[in-house]
Amino acid sequence: MKAVVLVGGSGTRLRPLTTPIPKPMLPVVNRPFLEHVIEHLKQYGLDDIVLLVCYRHEVIQEYFGDGRDRGVAITYVVEEKGPLGTAGAVKNAESLLTETFVVCNGDILTDLNLEVMMAFHREKQARATISLAPVDDPTAYGLVQLADGRRVERFVEKPSWDEVTTNLINAGTYILEPGVLRYVPPETRFLFERGLFPMLLQVGNSVYGYPSTAYWLDIGTPDDYLRAHRDILTGQIDVNIPGRREGDVWLGDDVRIDPTARIRGPAVIGNGCVIGPQVRINGPAAIGDGCHLDEGTFIEDAVLWQRVTVARQVVLRHCVIANDCTLGDNVLVTDSSLVGAGCTIGEGNRLERGLQLGPGRTLEPEAIRF
Ligand code: GTP
Repeated sequence: MKAVVLVGGSGTRLRPLTTPIPKPMLPVVNRPFLEHVIEHLKQYGLDDIVLLVCYRHEVIQEYFGDGRDRGVAITYVVEEKGPLGTAGAVKNAESLLTETFVVCNGDILTDLNLEVMMAFHREKQARATISLAPVDDPTAYGLVQLADGRRVERFVEKPSWDEVTTNLINAGTYILEPGVLRYVPPETRFLFERGLFPMLLQVGNSVYGYPSTAYWLDIGTPDDYLRAHRDILTGQIDVNIPGRREGDVWLGDDVRIDPTARIRGPAVIGNGCVIGPQVRINGPAAIGDGCHLDEGTFIEDAVLWQRVTVARQVVLRHCVIANDCTLGDNVLVTDSSLVGAGCTIGEGNRLERGLQLGPGRTLEPEAIRF
């Protein structure tokens, strides 16, 4: 069975992190997120993978190639004329999809049991099966209402509380029969959620919902991207974290840690990092390969990508710093702020309240102080 992964979106909610690379390539616990997705598929024998690419597709293609190094076979289908939307992108790969196939979003972290879901799809003889996840606040989502036997009865977009009859939302993994693609117009932007699925109901196709309590998280906003790290590092979902495990700290090769530094996990620290005197790391934290943290720096609930150089007495809390940034003395970055790749932040700057700094920017010392 083939698995089709949607990885062509432009990830606007995670800009400027996604300016140079697509969202599925953002590191999550020091590995491109798509590695975790592919490992999850492979675990269920889904090693014939079609990646539906568009935005910055060359970054994905260069990194994964034909997939052989990872024990899978990867085919790419590129939307040359721009994004076709979730269902439009799958339609674009129709010639490759001759039997039942799985579709998943390339930005969902989940440990959904695909084998059980496939058995459900077969037992119901469904044309389409949609994985469903329960949420606390159904008013913020598109809901999927099920009838007896878990047949989808209707889709309800962001209901008010008095209209809420279910708390199940579309969790972004589908099993489809190839015939359903006949309802998707070719070379046209078209979505599953608001396009194909409601249409399948209208024409009387059997669409089933598969509710599960599997771990499920869309990593598409700064807070959820950070949350994915927290949840992985605290063991709420089991994914491969690179490095040698010592308690709840995963250490890469050639890491130098000053004896006066204090590291409280959970944390992952990449190859070749240098952790200076009196540095304090309070997990959850992910620090990519080749980072240098100078004296007295404090890191908590933060993600640093690769080769980030941090001077003295810097505070990084609940924020993301992309590759090749240099931060001067006494810089503070907090509150879901995002720093794009290759920025130089002069000493004393304070980036707070979700501030976003585009790639390659230079901030003179004390240019931003709220
Ligand atoms: P935002 O702009 O922040 O909403 O992110 P996004 O563009 O990634 O959109 P969204 O989060 O809705 O996408 C869910 C998944 O589908 C992601 O893995 C996207 O890469 C993918 N996706 C969204 N739109 C398209 C598309 O038009 N073509 C392809 N191939 N994939 C898409």
